[in-house]
Amino acid sequence: MATVMIVGATRGIGLELVRQYAEAGDSVIACARDLGASEQLDALASGNDRIRVESLDIGSPGSIEAAATSIGDQAIDTLIVCAGVVGGAAQSLDDVDLEAWHHTLDVNTIGPTLIARHFQGNLAASGNGHLMLVSSQLAASTWPMGGRIIYSTTKAALGKVGQILAIDWKDEPITVTILHPGWVQTDMGGPSGEITAEESASGIRSVIAGATKADSGKFYKWNGEIHPW
Ligand SMILES: NC(=O)c1ccc[n+]([C@@H]2O[C@H](COP(=O)([O-])OP(=O)(O)OC[C@H]3O[C@@H](n4cnc5c(N)ncnc54)[C@H](OP(=O)(O)O)[C@@H]3O)[C@@H](O)[C@H]2O)c1
Repeated sequence: MATVMIVGATRGIGLELVRQYAEAGDSVIACARDLGASEQLDALASGNDRIRVESLDIGSPGSIEAAATSIGDQAIDTLIVCAGVVGGAAQSLDDVDLEAWHHTLDVNTIGPTLIARHFQGNLAASGNGHLMLVSSQLAASTWPMGGRIIYSTTKAALGKVGQILAIDWKDEPITVTILHPGWVQTDMGGPSGEITAEESASGIRSVIAGATKADSGKFYKWNGEIHPW
C-alpha cells in the first residue's frame, strides 16, 4: 500500500482525498493548518491507524520546515497540495486588496514550492513519487473571464511552478502534475458546483494512478482530460 500526503486536509476536496485513500488501504499523512479546528478530520482520523494528522500551515515557511522535520525521511509515494485560498472579495483593478494578494501568493504559490523543496527527498525515496499541485481553470490563459486577479494570478504562477519542477526534476523518479479539480461543491466552490467532492477526489485518484513520468508537467482536469493552458 502507498503512503499519501495531503496538504489542506481539513475540508472539501482534501478531506475527501484523505477519506478515499485511507478507505483504499493506503497510509495517509493528513496535514492541517490548525489542528484545533479540524473537527471533521479528527472524526475521520479517530481510531483509524491509517491516518496520521500533522500540523502544516502552507503560508508559513517555518511550519512547512517543522512538518518536514516531524515526518522525517520516510518515502512518500503521492503528495497532493490541495490547500488554497481565494484571496478575499476585493479582486478588481480598482479595489484589489494588496495585503490579501501577498498572503494568497504565500498560500497558493510560494508554500507549494517550499513543499516541493522540503519533500523532494521523500518523493524520490518512493522510487516513483507523484507531486500533484491543485490549481484551477481560472489559472489558464484559455479562461475567458476577467476579474479574480488575486486568485487567477497566484494559481497561474502555481502552474508555472509545476512546469518548472517537471523540467528540473527530469532525472528524478518524481512525476509532477497540475490539476483543475472541477467546479466542486465545497466551501470554496459553493453549493452550485458542478460536481461533488467525492467525484472530484475520485477523479484525482484516477489521474494519479494513470500518470507516468512521461506525463510530468501536464495540466489535467479532474476527469483525466488535458486542460488547455
Ligand atoms: N471548489 C472548487 O470549485 C475549486 C475549483 C478550482 C480549484 N479549486 C482548488 O482546489 C483546492 C481545494 O479546494 P476546496 O474547494 O476543497 O476548498 P475549501 O473547501 O475552501 O478547503 C480549503 C482547504 O485549504 C486549507 N488551507 C487554507 N489555507 C491554508 C494554509 N495556510 N495552510 C494549510 N491549509 C490551508 C483549508 O484549511 P482550513 O480548514 O484550516 O482553512 C482547507 O482544508 C484549492 O487549492 C482550490 O483553490 C477548487
